[in-house]
Amino acid sequence: MADGRGMGLRTVEMTAGTIGGLVARSVVVTGGAGFLGSHVTARLLARGDRVVVVDDFSTGKEMHLESIARSTNLMVYAATSPTRM
Ligand SMILES: NC(=O)c1ccc[n+]([C@@H]2O[C@H](COP(=O)([O-])OP(=O)(O)OC[C@H]3O[C@@H](n4cnc5c(N)ncnc54)[C@H](O)[C@@H]3O)[C@@H](O)[C@H]2O)c1
Repeated sequence: MADGRGMGLRTVEMTAGTIGGLVARSVVVTGGAGFLGSHVTARLLARGDRVVVVDDFSTGKEMHLESIARSTNLMVYAATSPTRM
């Protein structure tokens, strides 16, 4: 998009394991504090995945994650201090 919105959302499936016979995955969602990303994150958590959200909060908001913030399967990283490698 020309205004840069929507550029942050990506998902990467990391690993697979089993919980009670169901496949549980670990998924990284960049832009997970955004409008679309927070909904994707909620859906992934609802199906039992572990989710790591990485977001620089440039347009994302903590309030987007409020309803799922207490999930033990959710980790949120604020990528606000980029480092040069
Ligand atoms: N209520 C509504 O209907 C509503 C509300 C908001 C947005 N929208 C629409 O949704 C679309 C945009 O939603 P979206 O979810 O794609 O955009 P968004 O801006 O909500 O989400 C993008 C996310 O990516 C993050 N991000 C951006 N660059 C990053 C980087 N380099 N590293 C880490 N994180 C980064 C942002 O902080 C943000 O959380 C638009 O069409 C907009 O009009 C609708």
